[in-house]
Parts: sequence; structure tokens; C-alpha cells
Amino acid sequence: MDDFFVPMDTAAAITSLRQGQKPQWPTNAHTLEFARSLDNNTRFPRTLRKEFVVPTKAQLKRKTLTDDATTAAKASSSDDEGIYFCGNSLGLQPKAVGDYLNAYLKTWGSIAVGGHFTPMTHSPITPYQDLAGECARRMADIVGAAPSEIVAMNTLTINLHLMMAAFYKPTGKKHKIMCEWRPFPSDWYAIESQIEWHGLDPKKSMCLVKPDDGYLMTTENILKLIDEEADELALIMLPGIQYYSGQLLDIPTITAHARQRGIIIGWDLAHAAGNVELKLHDWEVDFACWCTYKYMNAGAGAIAGAFVHSKHGDNNHNVGLKGWYGHDKSSRFLMDNKFVPTPGAQGFQCSNPSIVDLTCLAGSLSVFQKTSMTDLRSRSLLLTAYAENLLTQIASRNIQNGDFPFQIISPSDPRFRGAQLSVLLQEDLMEDVSAALESNGVVCDKRKPGIIRVAPVPMYNTFEDVCRFMQIFEKALLPKGEE
Ligand SMILES: Cc1ncc(COP(=O)(O)O)c(C=O)c1O
Repeated sequence: MDDFFVPMDTAAAITSLRQGQKPQWPTNAHTLEFARSLDNNTRFPRTLRKEFVVPTKAQLKRKTLTDDATTAAKASSSDDEGIYFCGNSLGLQPKAVGDYLNAYLKTWGSIAVGGHFTPMTHSPITPYQDLAGECARRMADIVGAAPSEIVAMNTLTINLHLMMAAFYKPTGKKHKIMCEWRPFPSDWYAIESQIEWHGLDPKKSMCLVKPDDGYLMTTENILKLIDEEADELALIMLPGIQYYSGQLLDIPTITAHARQRGIIIGWDLAHAAGNVELKLHDWEVDFACWCTYKYMNAGAGAIAGAFVHSKHGDNNHNVGLKGWYGHDKSSRFLMDNKFVPTPGAQGFQCSNPSIVDLTCLAGSLSVFQKTSMTDLRSRSLLLTAYAENLLTQIASRNIQNGDFPFQIISPSDPRFRGAQLSVLLQEDLMEDVSAALESNGVVCDKRKPGIIRVAPVPMYNTFEDVCRFMQIFEKALLPKGEE
């Protein structure tokens, strides 16, 4: 039988990937037929693409919301659809979000203030007072926590500040915060200003983990630095997945090491939540924060999530800054100005949350209830390994003047990355490649000088998306006139 028709043993491939090994790809792996055979493989976690609004190529170019024939038309084949590999920045819109928002607007329009407490039959949303709790329950499964350890509130940077206000208590010698050498700017500013807030000097109180080989940080070196600095560390705050390289840090090992040395450890999970399997409770992470607009698909600037381990949250010793929504729900409206903290992470709330925001989040989380993080991760491991395999083939076919046109800077061990591959292009290629991707309806994120971040998201991206992307990408690498 021709190799062409032999489907891959996806179960064996996923087992290898989970053990850190690369699967064997058939010789026709680069063909659309092979990609479609994986998309149609019923023994493998399927895409939830039909739950999402996937823009067409024509819609991606629109500058007005007034429809014309092309922008109004639905995609009649996968060729008309854009290729969206930017879920690491903003996830696609789940169709459920529209239904949930309509329900909210109808509730508000019908019973106005009654929406706070009145359950409505045939509504996907709970009364407003219960909606943050409902979102916490849905996020708990995604990050491996008890619902009482989760809160949906504010936005990511604000939550990092709130957590540091509660957990960063510098004293004399123990004044340092350990973070990575190149945190996302907002994390850097938050850490820097928290240190300044305590009257300390960030130059002396920030302890930076450096990469070992250009972009990646080894667990070994992080543990060594923790040992060296243990006497002076008041807090460790690291990214679950580093936004630039896509490296997934060994959260359980690093957390256990910090705990053995009595150092509080918090994680920024912006790029990890909804992307990789997490067990925040079992790993005994002290706190974690994430946004919900990336892999959780709740929309631009959506309400964020935070985790506080039950060992801290349940006794509420750490609630630093109080507001009426941190007060226990059972007596919140007595208005007696005697603060009774809500047990668990929800005691960290201050204001009443935006119901539009919570409605979007509840809608987007309803899609997660149709699957599991184990299935999503299995799909993701294979999807990203497929992208890596095709990129590697492209790099070796297109050597120019003895150099590869690009290198993948994300870890090659699948256990230490999520969906994203960061591709570092030779600098002179960036402009032409970006233009070619854009004109062919590909959306992925570019960071100067030459990084493109390619993130096939297991919920809505397909193997066909990956294959079509690679065809466009390889053509874009060819010198002008040879395409
Ligand atoms: C790692 C990381 N930290 C912080 C932020 C900032 O988040 P926000 O603007 O929601 O506070 C982002 C945004 O993309 C991020 O990727």
C-alpha cells in the first residue's frame, strides 16, 4: 500500500512527544492530503473549530463594518479562510460569546437591577452575583485548582500588583525578587515599582535569571541561582511560558525547590493558562496570575484570572487591600463596615466586577467544557511538532550562502514548550516574509528584529492550517522573481 494513504499512529506519536521524543513523520507529511488525514482522524482529539468565528481572508482585510459581497460571504472552502496563528496574543472569538452577551443584554433590558440575584431559565448566564464564582469554577479545571483557589477579577498587571502587595514583604536582608532577564515589559514595571514602593532600589533588589544559550533558561541554572540567593530572596516571580521564546519552564520542580527554601513563588501564566496542563494546587504554587484573552479566548482586555493556594487564601492572612467585593457574599450587603473576608482567592476582590467581561469569559470557558486540558494538550503536542517538522524541512531546503534562512529558538523538547514556536528569521527576510504572510491571509505575530511567533492553537487550528501556512512561508523565503 502506498505510504500516501497510511494514516499516522497518532496515539504512539503523542506518547513519544509526552516523553520528549520526536515522532516519525511519513515522507508525504508536507502534503495537504496528509494534513487532512490527521484532521479527519477520529481516534485523535478533534478540533473545536466550528465553535469559533474564523475570519475569511476577505474579512481580514476589511476596513469597515459595512458588508460587501466578499466580506459578507461565508468561506466556501478552507482556501477562503484566513490562517490564524496568533492565539498567543488574542484568541479567536468563540460563537458562544455572542449568545452569552445577547442573554446578558436581554436580562439587563428585561429585569434591570433584578439581574443581580434573579436566576433566569433558558439563560446561559447565572445571576450577576454568582458569575465570578461560575467563571472561577470553570477556570479551576483548566489550571488544576480548587474553585475556591481561583478568582476572576481585574486584569493581569493589576493582579500581579495585588499579589505582590500581599506576598512581597521585604525584610532587612531578604529583599530581592527573582525574575527572568527579559520579562514582558508590564511584569518588569510591576516588579520594579513594587520594589520602589518599599523604598528599595530595583538595581539591588531585582535578581535576574539569565538564559544559558541565547534565549533559553535551564532548570538547573534556575535552581542554582535560587540556592545562591536564598538568604536574600523575598519572592520569586517567573513566567510559566516565556512570551518571546515560547519556553515552558519546569514549574513543579522550580516551585518545589523554592518551597524547600521557604521562598514564596508566584507565576505569570499569561502564555500558559489554557495552553498547557497545569496542576497549581498539587504543585503547591503560592500564587499565579493570567490573562484570558490569549488561549482562553475571552476577548481583548478581558477580565483576568488569579490563583492563590488554599494554604494562604483560606485563612485570608494575605488579603492586603480590601474592598466590598472581598467581603463575604453572605453579609456583603449588610453595609456594617465590618470586613468579613470571603474565604479563598475571592477574598482578593475589591470592586464589583464588570458583568460584560464576566459574560464574555463564561461564554469562552463554555467551550473548554466540551473538552479537557489533557485532550487539548495531546492535540497541541502533535500540531506543534508537525509545524516544527515542516519548518525544519523548509530550513534545510532553503540554505542561502551556507546559512539557514531561520532558526527555531523555542525548545526542541516538546515537554518544554506550549503551542508556540518562535522563528528567528535572518533580519533582511523579515519585511518580505511579513508582507507575503499578510497578503495571503496569514495572521501571526512579529517581534523586531526578526522573530515571528507561530502558534497553532489546538482548539481551532487544524493540520491543514499548518500545511497551508508552510506552503506560503516557503514561497515567501524565495528570492524575488523565483516564487
Ligand atoms: C507575559 C505577559 N505579562 C503581562 C502582560 C500584560 O497584560 P495586561 O495588559 O492584561 O495587564 C502580557 C500581555 O500580553 C503578557 O504577555
